[in-house]
Amino acid sequence: MDSDALKRLVRTVPDFPAPGIQFRDITTLIGHGPGLSATVDNLARRAELAGAEAIAGMEARGFIFGAAVAVKLGIGFVPVRKPGKLPIQTIGVDYALEYGTDRLEVDPAAITDGQNVIIVDDLIATGGTALAAAELLRMAGARVDHALFVIDLPDLGGAASLRRAGLSVEAIMQ
Ligand code: PRP
Ligand code: HPA
Repeated sequence: MDSDALKRLVRTVPDFPAPGIQFRDITTLIGHGPGLSATVDNLARRAELAGAEAIAGMEARGFIFGAAVAVKLGIGFVPVRKPGKLPIQTIGVDYALEYGTDRLEVDPAAITDGQNVIIVDDLIATGGTALAAAELLRMAGARVDHALFVIDLPDLGGAASLRRAGLSVEAIMQ
């Protein structure tokens, strides 16, 4: 399936989670077997070309695609978690949301020094989540040069922010 066919599998829900927002919902894409498989293949091809040694995905939707890509490439998966979930001493980064802040945490032992870790998530909007994940993975010793997304919302400027921060950014669809 090509990217136009995959795009048609993404559902747009008006006024979620707030009035005026057109929410791009991947539930319909991942519920479609050939669509899910083609999406994972597409991301895995890009990750392999980028020399991935491990995949990092952000809770929760980044786990779906990130773990599948890691399995496809036979490499490890690093969960970038919401706070208070990991049962060991973590390192964390706070980041700004539209209203308030949130936090991401990783197990620093999940990464070896200089390991080429590729970020995978379902969607980039403002880029705040991906920038925080990149900072955190670098704190843990990773080399983070690439971020891959199923969907980029270019009007929100996230991909441009990541590129300004020196990351290569790819998405299957906009
Ligand atoms: C969504 C999405 C990305 C992030 C993108 O996750 O899956 O991780 O927001 O937004 P940004 O580019 O503006 O940071 P969310 O925090 O809603 O969590 P979820 O995966 O648990 O639904
Ligand atoms: N869809 C899914 N997640 C999101 C969106 C969206 O449109 N915007 C920010 N996070």
